[in-house]
Amino acid sequence: MSIQRVPTGIQELDEILRGGIPVSNVVLLAGGSGMGKTTLTLQYLAHGAEQGENGLFLSVTEPVQILERNALEYQFMRPEFFKKGLVRLVDLRAVLQRMGMGGDTASGTALDGAALIEALEAIVKEYKVKRLVVDSITAICQRIESTGRIRDFVFRLGLSLSQLGCTTILTSETPPRELKYSMFGVEEFIGDGIIFLSELERNNDLVRTLQVIKMRGTEHSRAKFMMDLSEYGISLAPLLKKFGEAKV
Ligand SMILES: Nc1ncnc2c1ncn2[C@@H]1O[C@H](COP(=O)(O)OP(=O)(O)OP(=O)(O)O)[C@@H](O)[C@H]1O
Ligand SMILES: [Mg+2]
Repeated sequence: MSIQRVPTGIQELDEILRGGIPVSNVVLLAGGSGMGKTTLTLQYLAHGAEQGENGLFLSVTEPVQILERNALEYQFMRPEFFKKGLVRLVDLRAVLQRMGMGGDTASGTALDGAALIEALEAIVKEYKVKRLVVDSITAICQRIESTGRIRDFVFRLGLSLSQLGCTTILTSETPPRELKYSMFGVEEFIGDGIIFLSELERNNDLVRTLQVIKMRGTEHSRAKFMMDLSEYGISLAPLLKKFGEAKV
């Protein structure tokens, strides 16, 4: 029986993944600042919304009002997705309030990872979420007090998400120009998949790139693609072909 897949809506990425992300996978989307992580996840949720699938975006770093305003600048996002609850933007503060932990998200307050996972599970079930985004896992880990607890949180979250039945993208902030998929070195172990956004310098210009490092449950291309980010969202082109270089 062929595996069920969740198309991202980014045509070339779906081709790279032979149709999409295998259902219920947890994917780490790693990349430096401004690489397009949030944009890619919004496009993923908008594509689900077009097909009537419920999506939830847990925002840790950006207030949801600003996020919604910025999201609507993209041609793929439509106000009715928000109105109909097909794309639900929730900030960490609201989740903490739901946990009875108050809305204090000041960085001095340590986060109870187990309680957060429980709250997330409840929200996913309540809204029948098919596509989940956490932006970013790095910012959550930064709120957990010790490395040991981060490790424990990451493993428990991975386990919980893989059993929930939704297909998840966790964004991971990485230092610029480094081949690292996470800040704490443990986040990548959560993932059934890793998609890496980076950049390279070409003729004094910085070119965005995307590469699928791993994706459990499917064969995929491991080539590096050039990534274009515009008001229409993300599109990809083979790096070598685009620049007219010799074939490898
Ligand atoms: N409406 C838009 N139209 C075209 N390009 C845009 C638009 N909005 C943002 N961008 C481009 O996308 C970039 C930011 O992308 P995005 O927010 O997805 O990156 P990110 O990896 O999530 O960044 P961060 O690490 O800051 O969260 C901007 O620097 C800009 O170049
Ligand atoms: Mg972002």
